Amino acid sequence: MHAMAKKIANSLFLLLAALSFVATVQGQDQSAVDAVTNIKRTYKVYSRNWQGDPCAPIAYKWQGVDCTSFDGFLRITSLNLSSSGLTGHIAADISKLTMLESLDLSDNELSGTVPSFLAQLQSLEYLNLANNNLTGSVSNELLQKQSDGLLSLSVGRNPNLCASTACISQSNDTRKKDNNVVIAVVAPIAGILLLLVIIAAVIIFRRRKRYAAATNIILGKPRSSIKGSELESKQRQYSFNEVVEMTNNFDRILGRGGFGTVYHGFIEDIQVAVKMLSLSSVHGYQQFVAEVKLLMRVHHRNLTSLIGYCNEETNIGLIYEYMANGNLDEHLSGKNNRETSLNWEDRLRIALDAAQALEYLHNGCKPPIIHRDVKCTNILLNENFHGKLADFGLSKCFATDGDTHVSTIVAGTPGYLDPEYTTSNRLTEKSDVYSFGVVLLRIITGQAVIMVREDMIHHISQQVNSMVAEGDITKVVDSRLQGDFDNNSAWNAVEIAMASVSTISMERPYMSDIVKELKDCLAAELARKHNSCDLQNKDLVEQVSLNLISTDITPIAR
Ligand SMILES: *[C@@H]1O[C@H](CO)[C@@H](O)[C@H](O)[C@H]1NC(C)=O
Ligand SMILES: *[C@@H]1O[C@H](CO)[C@@H](O)[C@H](O)[C@H]1NC(C)=O
Ligand SMILES: *[C@@H]1O[C@H](CO)[C@@H](O)[C@H](O)[C@H]1NC(C)=O
Repeated sequence: MHAMAKKIANSLFLLLAALSFVATVQGQDQSAVDAVTNIKRTYKVYSRNWQGDPCAPIAYKWQGVDCTSFDGFLRITSLNLSSSGLTGHIAADISKLTMLESLDLSDNELSGTVPSFLAQLQSLEYLNLANNNLTGSVSNELLQKQSDGLLSLSVGRNPNLCASTACISQSNDTRKKDNNVVIAVVAPIAGILLLLVIIAAVIIFRRRKRYAAATNIILGKPRSSIKGSELESKQRQYSFNEVVEMTNNFDRILGRGGFGTVYHGFIEDIQVAVKMLSLSSVHGYQQFVAEVKLLMRVHHRNLTSLIGYCNEETNIGLIYEYMANGNLDEHLSGKNNRETSLNWEDRLRIALDAAQALEYLHNGCKPPIIHRDVKCTNILLNENFHGKLADFGLSKCFATDGDTHVSTIVAGTPGYLDPEYTTSNRLTEKSDVYSFGVVLLRIITGQAVIMVREDMIHHISQQVNSMVAEGDITKVVDSRLQGDFDNNSAWNAVEIAMASVSTISMERPYMSDIVKELKDCLAAELARKHNSCDLQNKDLVEQVSLNLISTDITPIAR
């Protein structure tokens, strides 16, 4: 027992010793590398081969930089920036090159005074500042070193520089004795402290995660309280084990999307949809996490709420509120046994829901969020058939501008994709408007977005265009409605949709215009349904518009 304790104590001591050693050695080495990197930036040294590590590999060693190995570590011992067109002051970062033996800054246009730190460089044997425009005086310490034969000093051809002991030294060098000694003492202590801080952080973090798991029940009301974003975003992060538990080991698949598979799950007794992303589809991981944190703060009654996320190594998942009635596409096509026939009023309400969501993303968010993949399968329906837009804001994490072959696959869906995108290669708010127009055409007609007939590909907009020319609205609108809709309302909806799918983006309306028009369409349809009594009808229309106005928008805190 006693021997065991001693053994543990011994290994702990060794570990700490090793850690502090690493901290000392690498700390100094890194600060030197940082210093030359800063010097490079200060003097804009771009003409030379200053790329990568200054010392290694030897073949790519920075020109003008010499390194010598000490205790197995490469240190910068010589810096030659002679005739490099340097301007400005002598960079303070040079003071961090504590092992410097030779410094040549001659034949430049450096101005300002000769800094006092040059005298602090213990190993400096050669200092050439000749032919610059330095002012003031050379410090007594440097002159002393020179007269002691410790330093070869050249300061000639600086018209305004006084280099004799007769000058009163402008720099009082007696304050800081020896930086190296301080670093050597501080670094091991800092190493141990750092270790303790890390251990403490890990313990606190674990506790907080447990606490978060225990209090997840509040997540069932996603719109309740959104403040203290930093803390909340931590609480909304789930471990992979928690995800396995909430999905009952990925038991029930809800659907498959471009980025991964969606599973059914529970947090406490609240249903959720868990989308597991295929790792290969995640483009910039850091950007992805940043985006997720932002999206968790975007709230609107017509956007599916992002409840949380999981990012453990290769397991990346997004947890959304569960939408009981699947997506709009299923209802329009009768897929997946969704045989609910949506009437004209339902269709207009869902269209309006999606339009309001987009309007919010475009105008209510700063910076505006472009959805990039508006389509019927991304419009989800809850138990009351309220429409909510899904998958917003994420597509840009899966494609960057440089990667065109990826972006054509992911950003946008064939048939819904803005035709202007192929020429401009840029998706804008008006691209979302185009996609929304296609959604609206599909809602009105119930037809597929792309049809192949007689070996010809027909887009839904061409189909509708030719039917509109015939002037018979009943031929345009989905035949399953059996003419049970207000004609004016339907014509108006077709007009909005056709304007939205204009090939020229400038000619498309804004989402705010579309929202306004769709409200009129819905009001007209409601008026038809309740036209038995004019008075009652008027009340209803007013009530409806009131309901539509009161969307509970939470602006993003930035
Ligand atoms: C610095 O480089 C220049 C050429 O660029 C050379 O003439 C000079 O001797 C070098 N200085 C030292 C100290 O090696
Ligand atoms: C040198 O510096 C002085 C002021 O410090 C300035 O007037 C002069 O123009 C500078 N000379 C050159 C060649 O840059
Ligand atoms: C140097 O120190 C003296 C007093 O020791 C002080 O009067 C003077 O202002 C100091 N000079 C500078 C440049 O700090």
